[in-house]
Amino acid sequence: MNEPRIPSKDHPLVLPAVAPMSVSAESAGPDSPTPGPVVLRAQGVVKRYRMGARTLEVLRGIDLAVRQGTFLALRGASGAGKSTLLHLLGGLDVPEEGEIWFQGRNLATLSQTELSQIRNRYIGFVFQAYHLLPELDALENVCLPARIARIDPATATRRGRELLARVGLADRMDHKPAELSGGEQQRVAIARALINQPELILADEPTGNLDSRTGEEILQLLLQIRSERSVTLVMATHDERVAAHAPVIVDLMDGQIRAPNRGPASVPSEPAS
Ligand SMILES: Nc1ncnc2c1ncn2[C@@H]1O[C@H](COP(=O)(O)OP(=O)(O)O)[C@@H](O)[C@H]1O
Ligand SMILES: [Mg+2]
Repeated sequence: MNEPRIPSKDHPLVLPAVAPMSVSAESAGPDSPTPGPVVLRAQGVVKRYRMGARTLEVLRGIDLAVRQGTFLALRGASGAGKSTLLHLLGGLDVPEEGEIWFQGRNLATLSQTELSQIRNRYIGFVFQAYHLLPELDALENVCLPARIARIDPATATRRGRELLARVGLADRMDHKPAELSGGEQQRVAIARALINQPELILADEPTGNLDSRTGEEILQLLLQIRSERSVTLVMATHDERVAAHAPVIVDLMDGQIRAPNRGPASVPSEPAS
């Protein structure tokens, strides 16, 4: 593999080198009757966008707790704020009010370095708009987070090849993004989100650009990975077929969580410890 250029410091994938942090790995299986610990929590989250003189309040007090190993589908109409909420949950943006906690840590208290490291090591983000680097081929894009995490290049390449094969792109590894269809780019982005074996996957309409068969295959892949490694999966979707697979469904409407289906895997917010 060529030496790909590591993107600028502000890119969501970039990680400065620091010592690894320790994370407790309490676990209950994904479909275990005993729900796992809460790994991700939003408390009173408010997000506003300022547009000149106008202020758009997109999230108006979101309380959400996500237990380890669950699959939570975040539903809502286009413009409801699903992407905004996922970005906040993944530490890619900060709320105006309220707090986001991941694995017992308030994201607002972390340095940029710590936050970057947590994102790189523990969170796989599948962006709605892919965010692939145009000058890198599919395999290099997939392996980039592993390079940033200083994973041995041979190991990274092996994992990258395996993941690309699992998303059905074994014969597209050396294609640049411009040489891939939208659905293929989405699959590369999914493989990239999985390369560092994250504990949390935040996926923003990952099947939105796929035909229904490929969408179903990708969904099955994510579900399989979730059950293999007790990964927590939070997925924004307006696809009812996708939501039908989720044990926990949360609806986002008028900036608030509405009529959540509070199964054992999701609980109302309680004070974060
Ligand atoms: N950077 C931004 N600046 C201003 N408004 C934004 C910005 N990002 C999103 N919005 C607005 O916030 C609302 C929610 O957007 P988004 O979170 O992308 O919704 P969804 O993902 O549910 O379609 C939309 O009305 C959108 O136009
Ligand atoms: Mg969106």
